Amino acid sequence: MTKLGDPLYVPSAAALDIESILGESRVFPPPAAFAARARIGSESNAAALVARADADPEAFWAQQAKDLVWREPWAKVLDWQLPFAKWFVGGKLNVNDSCVDRHADGARADKVAILWEGEPGDTRRITYRDLKAEVCRAANALERLGVKAGDRVAIYLPMIPETAYAMLACARIGATHTVVFAGFSADSLAGRIQDCQAKVLITADSFWRKGKRVPTKSIADDAAAKCPTIEKTLVVRRTGEAVGWDAARDVWWHEAVGREPESHSAPALDSEHPLFILYTSGTTGKPKGVVHSTGGYLTQVAWTHREVFDLREDDVWWCTADVGWVTGHSYLVYGPLANGATVLMYEGAPTTPGPDRFWALIEKYKVSILYTAPTAIRSFIRLGDEHPNRHDLTSLRLLGTVGEPINPEAWMWYRRVIGGDRCPIVDTWWQTETGAILVSPLPGATPAKPGSCTRPLPGIALHVVDKAGNPVGKGKGGYLAITKPWPAMLRGVWGDPERYQKQYWSDLPGTYFTGDGARFDADGYLWVMGRVDDVINVAGHRLGTMEIESALVSHPAVAEAAVVGRPDELKGTGIVAFVTLKKAPTDGLRRELTEHVAREIGALARPDAIRFADALPKTRSGKIMRRLLRELAGGGDVKGDTTTLEDIGVLATLRDASEED
Ligand code: WTA
Repeated sequence: MTKLGDPLYVPSAAALDIESILGESRVFPPPAAFAARARIGSESNAAALVARADADPEAFWAQQAKDLVWREPWAKVLDWQLPFAKWFVGGKLNVNDSCVDRHADGARADKVAILWEGEPGDTRRITYRDLKAEVCRAANALERLGVKAGDRVAIYLPMIPETAYAMLACARIGATHTVVFAGFSADSLAGRIQDCQAKVLITADSFWRKGKRVPTKSIADDAAAKCPTIEKTLVVRRTGEAVGWDAARDVWWHEAVGREPESHSAPALDSEHPLFILYTSGTTGKPKGVVHSTGGYLTQVAWTHREVFDLREDDVWWCTADVGWVTGHSYLVYGPLANGATVLMYEGAPTTPGPDRFWALIEKYKVSILYTAPTAIRSFIRLGDEHPNRHDLTSLRLLGTVGEPINPEAWMWYRRVIGGDRCPIVDTWWQTETGAILVSPLPGATPAKPGSCTRPLPGIALHVVDKAGNPVGKGKGGYLAITKPWPAMLRGVWGDPERYQKQYWSDLPGTYFTGDGARFDADGYLWVMGRVDDVINVAGHRLGTMEIESALVSHPAVAEAAVVGRPDELKGTGIVAFVTLKKAPTDGLRRELTEHVAREIGALARPDAIRFADALPKTRSGKIMRRLLRELAGGGDVKGDTTTLEDIGVLATLRDASEED
């Protein structure tokens, strides 16, 4: 459970430049040329939509749900037994009807669904007709491997078209998929498979990242060895490199899928059928499996993808997020495909072979909408304007950001250098748990302020509240909370309804607590300040400090560890670990511990700094005082209250502790 004990703090205050945010007064109305053609082209239209949705959210969402293909209509829009929601109760559908079949069997059959480029420059163009054939084949193959509706399938794949086929094939037969980011370690993968008891694991031989092959198959083998529930491993041949093979368990994708027919009769599934589980870090040592539904989820991702990004038939949509994160689920696969969009998917690193790869891709594919992360934008700023300036980016008409607060200067750079002062920017706030975007400008209607995600979308009851759950009023900081259910909300934590209730619905009774601190300004614009719980946002990726601590203490040299975030210019938040050892440190121990964490969790969790200490600051009851550690890690002195600290002497040694060998 999150503890609201500490005063609100801003994890990335320096990176965010909070002073300049508070003083930020620039306002950018939608460019007239954009607004003139936009789906929602004026503030009054947007306000009318919000008013209509607020007056009757159920009617509003029911109207949006009608844009999907339903096999059987719902009997009731919402069944709300706090904190458990069911949307479109009694309705039946198959995600494939909306995302694949209606396009393949209709006017979009020859439209490109996926434009794919591998890091070495190899390409594939997949039309909606092709997509249907591939997904049907994969669905048949999964069924032949014994996968049934309700079973779980783990997908440990890189950014290749087969990943989308695999997800849609699971959805087609009613298997619940769990995609695990291909940068996670064997242990992280195994933990997720064990938690949801997956039956089949889908992986690839290896894939390309920064000019090297990442050996997904051998990592998957290490994981599968610890997972007795895995009956079969389906292996996509991506790079062609030789891999280890277990003839009883392993099956090549191209063989198993290749021999299947191109048609498959998809069953009608309940609106509440679990479409996927996605593991995300929380405030305990173990990631939790966030469960998403079918009807409500698809309704909201399709609607937000269309309206927030002002989608048009001829757009080329590029969401740079990896499919292993929720953004990749909602805005690389399900949202855009439900809308029949053309999606660009890129396998590799943004700077391979050169620092201009992103801009070269935009020029080559005439990308019209780009959705990326502030941390990527900050690293592009550092690489220099000459790289984007060398390319023709005039195909772009709209830009988006997601994953963390964007500092106003990065926003301004994005607008000027990438958007040519012509493209609106949508700064979209949401979470793995919310499933879809909840706060964002509507690009043809909402004037933007750099650094603010502006206003809640229609139908979203979002408030900034104090500890008692009362709204704090404009201009004051507080906890970001949601007071009414929304269609794409998580349906629970896999296998643990109690944890769901405790984690999200008990800090602020009767209300969903996001874990973020935020404020509304005088104009009702939302400024998200970052996490207030023990979750840190590193380069747009959520990590639980407890998770990293558990990894550290699993090393034989470590007695105790406390991990906190500190402002980092590039990553938003950097990871600092305070570690007490069982005996004096040996040479190279810092490096060893850093690598140990990377092995246990994945490279993204690697600490930026490790400070050895004799003791950690604790209260008399033995609770580690993280607030003090955060202040120390940030380079500052401890300013807050230290009266509950058991041994004040600890602070001085921690302050002086080196971060180098
Ligand atoms: C943060 C990613 C400020 C926030 C979709 C949230 C943001 C967490 C924004 C969820 C934004 C996401 N402005 N902060 N536009 N978008 N966040 O689950 O702290 O990986 O709680 O979902 O990212 O991260 P998650």
